[in-house]
Order: sequence, then structure tokens, then C-alpha cells
Amino acid sequence: MDRLLDCLNWPVPVSGIRKNPSYPCNPWLNPEPREAGRLRITRYIPAMLVDGKPYRTIWLPDSDPGLVQIIDQRKLPFAFKIADLRTTDDAARAIVEMQVRGAGLIGATAAAGMYLAAIEATTESDFEAAIQKRAEFLCEQRPTAVNLRWAVERSIAAISECESNEEKVAAAREMAQTVADEDADFCRRIGQHGMELIREIHEKTGKPVNILTHCNAGWLAFVDYGSATAPIYAAHDAGIPVHVWVDETRPRNQGARLTAWELGQHGVPHTVVADNVGGHLMQHGMVDLVITGTDRTTFTGDVANKIGTYLKALAANDNGVPFCVALPSSTFDWEISDGVNGIPIEQRGGDEVTVMSGVPVDGGGPEQEFQIVAEGSPAANFAFDVTPSRLVSKLITERGICDASENGVHGLFPEKFS
Ligand code: MRU
Repeated sequence: MDRLLDCLNWPVPVSGIRKNPSYPCNPWLNPEPREAGRLRITRYIPAMLVDGKPYRTIWLPDSDPGLVQIIDQRKLPFAFKIADLRTTDDAARAIVEMQVRGAGLIGATAAAGMYLAAIEATTESDFEAAIQKRAEFLCEQRPTAVNLRWAVERSIAAISECESNEEKVAAAREMAQTVADEDADFCRRIGQHGMELIREIHEKTGKPVNILTHCNAGWLAFVDYGSATAPIYAAHDAGIPVHVWVDETRPRNQGARLTAWELGQHGVPHTVVADNVGGHLMQHGMVDLVITGTDRTTFTGDVANKIGTYLKALAANDNGVPFCVALPSSTFDWEISDGVNGIPIEQRGGDEVTVMSGVPVDGGGPEQEFQIVAEGSPAANFAFDVTPSRLVSKLITERGICDASENGVHGLFPEKFS
């Protein structure tokens, strides 16, 4: 109840919501679009909390039409900072420098970047050429998450239906908002479907359900709720006892830095483990279920996710632990059938491997960087790996749960195969 009241009182940083104080506040309800005067409100109360206040990871303030705001994830968990994006370059930089990251949020940022690109294109003589150039530039920033190109293409399609520059800018803004809203809604639905898997395990064992996750497929990787974390939050909110093993996820430590932080903010019991611990935990019956996210999933069920995911899937397979992958349909690649050979794997700078950062142990002072490798040793940094569908027990999508196979995916998304 406190949480609901809090929702009502907090001036959430998402445009539109405060205009209808009777808007449903339970974040797991399915809010129907409502009419409020001339304004058709289809947006959601953010469900995820920072210091008890609901936030999304990206939003477009009504008060300043040329502005997009994001949570700067590079600073977490030691500082909570909001960053302003005002140009296509800002959006591109936010993606490549990982102020924002995670498949869904990369897509939402790309769509917002396209809105900023549309504003810029109105100042050039050839709007179409200007927007196309910026679209390609945005797409180049990170190769693995398919949501990037998907969002850019949706924006281009919306813009191309308009006549005047003014309409094009408005369409791009509307699409940026739609991509963000859809992402939040799809993740909420993933939570509702995935929660049933957790409930089933709990009803069988009568004990808290131990779930292992890798990297951050939490709300920080999307707009709200997360993919892998959505079932966990839904179960926790429904009173099903859960405990999460959080892989630290070298080299950038998205598990230790981001997943642990957001689970803590939501009050979900969790324990951070070094990346190589998962196999041991599974051998000793300490993991009931693995849920990860994915950055690109073939229509045949192969899954590209943060480096190290494949090894967890092998360990899960060897120990009879269900290995589930949660994704909104925006993360499907409907063209590629062989993930291992077809999905481009991003390679990042070796410095992410050789340098670690953190705050002094006593908590005082700003974040500092430390070299952890002998001077001169080269480092390789493959950011993702592919888990073949044979190792994936189930896919959890906004439309329901299916086998990780062409047949399974076809059953939920038949229109994509026609
Ligand atoms: O490199 P990142 O942090 O953008 O990596 C992507 C991820 O966050 C993970 O692979 C995640 O598990 C899936 S993205 C929803």
C-alpha cells in the first residue's frame, strides 16, 4: 500500500502520467489507454524503484522538447546521475560508451536518438539524406543487440509516412515514446508469464526459489521491469519467496554493479557470486532455475547474450537445471537461423579486461580505476556469446512461454513466418 501511495505522490519523470491522477498505480496491472480531455494517455507508472521512487531508464520531458534524459549507468551503483541527450551524437555516444546498455534500452535510446536526428534534419536542405545518414550512424554504434536497427527502422518508417518536416519530427517523437512504452509493457507481460514458472517450482519444493542470472537483463537494460528480472520482481511482489544468485559478469561487472543494485532497491534477496561459481552451485542443488536475457535471438531459438552465458547453459544442462531466456519480441532476429555463425559478436577494448574500478573499501571517496594485469599483456574482450537452442529450456516472451525452436517461436509469432 505504501508503494501505491508513493506512486501517487511522486512526480515521476515520465511525461503525461501526472495529468491523470486516477491512472492505475499497481505496476503489474494492465493499464488501458484512457481519455483525459484531449490527451490519450497510454503511458505507464514506472514500476522500478530508486530509493523508493519509481523511475524509467529513459524519458522525454514535455517541458523541453529538444531533450531526452537517461540514467547514466556508468556511475551506478556508487552514484545516481541523470544525463541529458540533445543531439544524435549524444545518443550515439550514450550507446557506445554504455551510459545506456542492454538490448531494450539500446532500442529505446536509438528511437529517441532518431527523434533528435529528425530535429537536426529540419535544419538541412535534404531532410531524407540527413535523417538517413544519422540513422546509419546510430546503427553502427553497437553490433549485437538487434533492437538498435529494429528501433531505427521503425522510426524511419513512421517518418516516411509524413509530408511536412513538422509532422516528421512529431512522428519521430511519437515513435520514441511508443518504443519505450511498448518495451515497458512487454517486459511487464514477460514478468506475468515467467512468474508462473517460479510459482510452480515453489509449489513443488515449498522452499524459496533459487534463481541464477547473468549480466544485467534487469530494468536498467530495458525501460522498466527488465526481461530476466521481470518474473523475479513479479514473484517477489506476489509473495513467492525468491533468492537470486547474481553473476558478477566480468569484464564490466553489470551483474555486480547493476543487477545487485536494482534487486536491492526492490528488496529482493540476492547474493553476488564470481562468474565461475554457477557450475558448483548447480552441482549442489543450489539453483532451481536459470533466467537470463538476450541481445539477439534467432527465430530458431539460438540466443546471443553477455559473454559467459553459454558456459552457464552448459552447466545447467549437465545438472538438469532449467535454463530459460526472457525476451521481448523486439529482440528476435527474423532473418538469421544459425546464431553461432550468423550473429555478429561485438569486441570491445581490452582495457575493460585489464582495468577494474570501484570505490575505496571504507566507502569514502570517488570511484577509482585499477590496473589488474601486468603491463604489456594484451587482452581480448569478446562481449557476447551464443547459446544454441538445444541448451535453452524455454523462451519467455510477452506472448507467453515457448520452446526454443522454430516451431515454438512460430506458435507464438505466426505472423512473422508468413
Ligand atoms: O553489453 P551490455 O551490457 O549491453 O550487455 C547486454 C546485456 O545487458 C546482457 O547481455 C543482458 O543479459 C541482455 S540485454 C537485455
